[in-house]
Amino acid sequence: MCGIVGYIGKRRAQDVLLSGLSKLEYRGYDSAGVAILHEGAFQLEKSVGRLSVLADRLEVDPLAGSQGIGHTRWATHGRPSDANAHPHADCSSAFVVVHNGIIENYLELRDDLMARGHQFASETDTEAVAHLLEEHWTGDLMETVLRALRDIRGAYALGIMAAAEPGKMIAVRKHSPLVIGIGEGENFIASDIPAVLEYTRNVYILEEGELAVVTAAGVSCFTLEGVPVDYKPFRVTWDAVAAEKGGYAHFMKKEIHEQPKAVRDTLSGRLLDDGTRIDLPELGWSEAMALDIDRIHIVACGTSYHAGLVGKVAIETLARIPVDVEIASEYRYRNPIVTDRTLILVISQSGETADTLAALRGARARGNRVLAITNVVGSSVAREADDVIVTWAGPEISVASTKAYTTQLVALYLFAAYVAKLRGAVDPQALLTLAHELTEIPEKLEELLDTAPVIEEIAREFSAWSDAFFLGRGLDYAVALEGALKYKEISYIHAEAYPAGELKHGTLALIVEGVPVVAMVTQDDVYEKSLSNIKEVKARDAHVLALAWAGDTQTHKSVDRVLYVPRTIPFLAPLMLIVPLQLLAYYASVARGNDVDKPRNLAKSVTVE
Ligand code: AGP
Repeated sequence: MCGIVGYIGKRRAQDVLLSGLSKLEYRGYDSAGVAILHEGAFQLEKSVGRLSVLADRLEVDPLAGSQGIGHTRWATHGRPSDANAHPHADCSSAFVVVHNGIIENYLELRDDLMARGHQFASETDTEAVAHLLEEHWTGDLMETVLRALRDIRGAYALGIMAAAEPGKMIAVRKHSPLVIGIGEGENFIASDIPAVLEYTRNVYILEEGELAVVTAAGVSCFTLEGVPVDYKPFRVTWDAVAAEKGGYAHFMKKEIHEQPKAVRDTLSGRLLDDGTRIDLPELGWSEAMALDIDRIHIVACGTSYHAGLVGKVAIETLARIPVDVEIASEYRYRNPIVTDRTLILVISQSGETADTLAALRGARARGNRVLAITNVVGSSVAREADDVIVTWAGPEISVASTKAYTTQLVALYLFAAYVAKLRGAVDPQALLTLAHELTEIPEKLEELLDTAPVIEEIAREFSAWSDAFFLGRGLDYAVALEGALKYKEISYIHAEAYPAGELKHGTLALIVEGVPVVAMVTQDDVYEKSLSNIKEVKARDAHVLALAWAGDTQTHKSVDRVLYVPRTIPFLAPLMLIVPLQLLAYYASVARGNDVDKPRNLAKSVTVE
C-alpha cells in the first residue's frame, strides 16, 4: 500500500504535496518523492527513508511550481532506495507517474520496452508505466493513458502528468483507491481522504475503472473506454484523525476489514491462469532444490509463530516434508539438529523482531538456507534471508496483528503448493482444488465481515468474564492459539487455547458454570471428537460459542451459540475462522474501554530481546 498525492492550482505545489503525504505515511514510509512541473520541465526530488528526509531536502532546495504529484512508498517490487522511490519518469522525463498497487505483467512489459530501447532507472514495476506512456504518446494525454492501460494487468491507482500538457493531471483507479479533492480554483488527487482535508472537504471517490482529468478549473471523469461519467462529490464530515483510519474507530478494525484486499493482493501474480495455477516467481527454485530439502524449521514469534503452525500442516500435507515450528526466542539459544538440507523458514510481519532475526543469523552461520515471509520489503529479515516471499498486506499499524496473519497463511499455503509441485509430491487435482478455493477466499472474507455486529454483541457478553478458553483440534487448535492471543493482548482478559482432546488432562478443572469457551469445529476428520469435547465442557455449564461451517446441522444442538463461517476446504479453515476471532477480541477490548491499537506493555515490533 502506498500514498499518492497530486495538486494543481495556485499554491506552491511542494507545500501541498508534503502536507498530504504526511497524512498518508500510515500507508507506507520506506521512501518518498515529488515531481513538480515548472517552466515546461519536471523537477524530481526522491529519497529513501521517512518523509522527513524528503521534506528536509526540499526545505534546503525548494521547488517552484504549482502543479505536482507526490508519493510515499511501501515497497513491493524493488528494495527501498532513492532510485526506486516514486515518481518515476520515462527516458526523456516527458511523463511522470506515481502508483499504488501491483502491475502483474511488469517483467514482460519491461523486457519489451527495453528491447525497444527504453532505459530503466529503477527496479520497480511502476516505471514501466512511464515508458509505456512514452511509447504510446499521441499528443493527447488522456488518449495516451487509455492506450497504455490496455497493456497493463494488475491493480493500480495512478497519478500522471505530461510536460507537453501543463495544467493537467490524470488519475486512474483499478483495484487501488483514489479520491479527488475539489477546491476553489485548485484540485487534488490522493490515495485517501486525510491528504486533502486541510484544503477541501468536497471529495469524489473514483469508482473502479474510472479516470479523472484534473485541472485547476475543474475535474472530468471517464470510464477506461473514454465514456464520460457523471460524478457526484460528497462532503467529508470526519475529522483528520478519523479519516486516517478510513472512518473506522481504530486501525485494528480498519486492518481487519482490509483483509479481503490484502489476501487478494498477496495472491496476485502468484495465483495464475484464472486461478488454476500456483507459482512463486520470486523464488525461481528448481526441482532439485525442492527435492534437496529434507526438513523445515519454521521460526517466529507471537502471531507469526501461530501462522507457522498452520504452515506446518500445509507443508506436511502437500509436500510431505517434516516441519518443526519453533519459538524464535527459544530456538536462537538451542543447538538445533540440522543438516545442510534443512530449510529455515522465518516469518515476521515487521522483519525486525530481534529474536527472529537472531535465529535467522544463527541459521545462516550454520550454513542453512533461509526463506523469509515478511510484510516489509527492505527489512532486516528480508535483506538477510536467501529468499523472500513478501506478503502484500500494506503497513499494519495496530499492535495486534490481523491482516499480516491472514496474508502469512496465504504465503504459506502458496509455498506448500509450490514446493509440493516441484517435488511431484501432490496430485494435480488437489492443487487445482486448492487454487480454486484460494480464489474464493477474498469474497468469503467480505461475507464474514458482514457478521461483525453479531460478534460485537457476543463480545460484550464475553468481556464481563475474567477468563476465556479457545478449543480446537488440528488446524482448529492452531487458530485457537491465535484467537486466544488476540483476545488476551487487547482485552486484557486471561485467555488460553487448548487442544480440545487435552481438556480431560487438567484444564477441565477450570471449567465451571458460565465460563466462556470458544470451540472451533471445522476439521471434518475429527468432527465427532470435537463435538464430544464440546459436550464435556457443556456438561460443566460452560458458555459455549462454536465456530462451524455454514450448513453444519449438528453443532448448534450442543452449544449456546454458533457463528457460521462460509464453507471452504477444511485445509483452508484458518483463513475463515480467524476473522470472527479477531472481531471478538476487538469488540471485547472496545467494551472494556482499552486502547485497542496500542495495548498496554506491548510494542508493534519487538526489536529488543
Ligand atoms: C501480534 O498480535 C503480536 N502483536 C505479536 O505477537 C507479533 O506477532 C510478534 O511480536 C511478532 O512480530 P513480527 O511478526 O513482526 O516478527
